[in-house]
Amino acid sequence: MDRLVIEGGNTLKGTINISGAKNAALPIMAAALLTDETCVINNVPALRDTDTMIRILRAMEAKVERKKERVSITGACGKLKAPYNLVSTMRASICVLGPLVAKRKFAEVSFPGGCIIGPRPIDLHLKGLEKLGAEIKIKSGYIIAKAKKLKGANIYLGGHFGSSVLATANTMMAATLAEGTTVIENAACEPEIVDLANFLISMGARIEGHSTPTVMITGVKKLHATNYKIISDRVETGTYALAGAITGGDLFLKGAKGAHLLAVIDKLRECGIHITEHKDGLRVKRKVRSKIKPASVTTLPYPGFPTDMQAQIMALLCLSDGISIITEKIYPERFIHVSELGRMGAQIILEGPNAIIKGVKSLSGADVMASDLRASAALVLAGLVAKQKTRVHRIYHLDRGYEELDKKLKNVGARIWREKEER
Ligand code: EPU
Repeated sequence: MDRLVIEGGNTLKGTINISGAKNAALPIMAAALLTDETCVINNVPALRDTDTMIRILRAMEAKVERKKERVSITGACGKLKAPYNLVSTMRASICVLGPLVAKRKFAEVSFPGGCIIGPRPIDLHLKGLEKLGAEIKIKSGYIIAKAKKLKGANIYLGGHFGSSVLATANTMMAATLAEGTTVIENAACEPEIVDLANFLISMGARIEGHSTPTVMITGVKKLHATNYKIISDRVETGTYALAGAITGGDLFLKGAKGAHLLAVIDKLRECGIHITEHKDGLRVKRKVRSKIKPASVTTLPYPGFPTDMQAQIMALLCLSDGISIITEKIYPERFIHVSELGRMGAQIILEGPNAIIKGVKSLSGADVMASDLRASAALVLAGLVAKQKTRVHRIYHLDRGYEELDKKLKNVGARIWREKEER
């Protein structure tokens, strides 16, 4: 396994190209199972998670070819099972459930279970499919879904923490081939859901209202081949925006779409970071010695502040001139990075879903452990500005979701490299 070593203190300057969105690519790749024809998907980031999705599709005997960022999928699969050894490594594997039930009338998908960021139930996924007429059983750790025919329905898809991104994705995908009209209320409005809807529309689906909490899908008999380009990754964009901010740098994030990051941009401006939106990207600047203003951040479903940016903004607020509060309203236990940032000198108190952060003048490099994808990104950000060396261990989490993170940061002036862990 690799670790990342960072020698902090460099100001980052230059251009970073933003990759395709991981969380759009994963459900879109699964959606290709809704047709026997070939779907060509462009701008798919080269990540461990997209590789895992390819392995799942191949395990079901779908034909998948990858050439750099272009993935072609012919979804005429022979096996209808997503096995435990793959699903257990990536929760988004659950996205094959909706397309399989809709197209093949049967699916056997390993139960994804919880993960390090807290419990992650799937009741809303099952509710959506059951309302469409699927019969679902849990047997030996697998979700077994069958349907003679799916029929459009009115479905309220809100849970204890509000809307669900992937439950909306699963229900929407299944409804494209159901008989009649489906209305999903309290649907997720995330840009990745809008991208999925646009992909499905390009395959011949009839969908309206995507990007609002009420999505209407009128079932069609058949979907067809398509050639589609997925959106740029807003969380990768936000992470590099913070790399510019935390190092007092000047970065141009090429391909970034400001409209997908309004809450993050707003918060960063409140902290005193200079951000300008351009036709082809975002520019992020902070003067090295200018103060970072403290802030209060609450994570919420889109268009609120994304939970996937909570750990990264915490790294910045650790160096702010005052006291900040972060309230995590999507995953109240997603604070595993707090103790690792503490090892670097951060002062953070946790009280339930609230983190109270007292800004410090500087952080110092340390050995820290990456625990989940976004927490790992926060440790890298802290390492970029910390005095001395930071070693981030177990970085396979980063490889799940950030394409060539070390190379992209090195190109704009960071001292960062990979090393093999000694055994
Ligand atoms: N929830 C339920 N029941 C369900 C599903 C979700 O109660 O059936 C709850 C969750 O426990 C959570 C909330 O609803 O409290 C929202 O979870 P959601 O279902 O929206 O999460 P997800 O769809 O499983 C996606 C992203 C996550 C991101 C969340 C929230 C993908 C592949 N994953 O997960 O991304 O944190 O939405 O925005 O799209 C990441 O990329 O690092 C990541 C974890």
